[in-house]
Amino acid sequence: MKVANRRKFLALGPALGGALVGCSGEKKQQAAAEDDGPNRLGKPVSEYGERSQFEKTHRLKPETKTPEQASTKTPLAEIHGMITPSALHFERHHAGVPALDPAKHSLMIHGMVERPLLFSMAELKRLPSVSKIHFIECAGNSGSEWGAKPAPDAQTSHGLVSCSEWTGVPLALLLEEAGAKKEATWIIAEGADACKMNRSIPIAKAKGDIIVAYAQNGEALRPEQGYPLRLVIPGWEGNINVKWLRRLELTDQPAMSRQETSKYTDLEASGKARQFTFVMDAKSLITFPSGGRKLEGPGFYEVRGIAWSGRGRISKVEISADGGKTWQAAALQDPVLPMALTRFRFPWRWDGAECTLLSRCTDETGYLQPTRAELIAVRGMNSNYHYNGVHGWKVEAGGNVTQVVQPV
Ligand code: CO
Repeated sequence: MKVANRRKFLALGPALGGALVGCSGEKKQQAAAEDDGPNRLGKPVSEYGERSQFEKTHRLKPETKTPEQASTKTPLAEIHGMITPSALHFERHHAGVPALDPAKHSLMIHGMVERPLLFSMAELKRLPSVSKIHFIECAGNSGSEWGAKPAPDAQTSHGLVSCSEWTGVPLALLLEEAGAKKEATWIIAEGADACKMNRSIPIAKAKGDIIVAYAQNGEALRPEQGYPLRLVIPGWEGNINVKWLRRLELTDQPAMSRQETSKYTDLEASGKARQFTFVMDAKSLITFPSGGRKLEGPGFYEVRGIAWSGRGRISKVEISADGGKTWQAAALQDPVLPMALTRFRFPWRWDGAECTLLSRCTDETGYLQPTRAELIAVRGMNSNYHYNGVHGWKVEAGGNVTQVVQPV
């Protein structure tokens, strides 16, 4: 049966056949590997797992003198499936990562409420909880694509998005406990980092799907993801998902804080700035083949990538191998969840000629990811935030994969 399966697989293309060794060759290889040490006693059990010493995938760290207010990027081209390993989740800090003792940490809910409340971490963990898979994306993700010189690889261009399973208490439940007053229209969320970063959240979203999260991918949050407590605001720009959460104040107006006035606003061509642009629009990215890779010759390849929307589920991803002239639907990997990364796959046979691979997605609201030109026609080019234009990679005749410089 095994042999029959292999024959079927080889029939896919000569390029793959060349990469496989025959049955007898395989046995020789196996024998050589066994002599090489694996028969010796291996490492003992351990209390906390580490990845293989041979795995070197890492977040992209910027060269900066102020790494406490910088970002690192997720290696999207090296990641499989829809979940980002916690250790590779992108970071964005404004005043470094605080070391918070959960035994001393608390969350205060006050302002326009019937009953101001103070929760210890232990008290929060006793409350009814939810676990949801959601992406978090920095509003500045793929911002380099606004410019004439796009980033050379997937990590540099789009690495400010990651996806985890988050566990915590629904914020709506805490607001019911505190008794939000009718006149409360905003909630100001504040972190316990050195700059006490804060953002204002409209009360309607707060009464909806926001999670006050203490766990990520089955264990406690990582310190750089807000340990011991953070907001997860499904589909909304990363900055408002306040980390190291210590205070929620109900008010009748937004705080007009630094991060919602001088930062995270979008200056349009007219000179007018859009403010409180929370939702991350639908976006897709081909992660294989992607910039910096080299294809080893013509033949079969599986085009892979991710798509996501801050408005709900992804309903369709299409691939073009001819620079956008024709499009074909890619397969979406179940489960396709709202405001979560969705993995897509597309069988493709490369004929060896230079070509441009593009992806575009549609979400369940019917929103179609715009081209760069369509996006710029509406938003101009002043903003660093909320770029979600159709992205592509050029496959050169020799197999090198590079970025596509798109016309405006
Ligand atoms: Co925004």
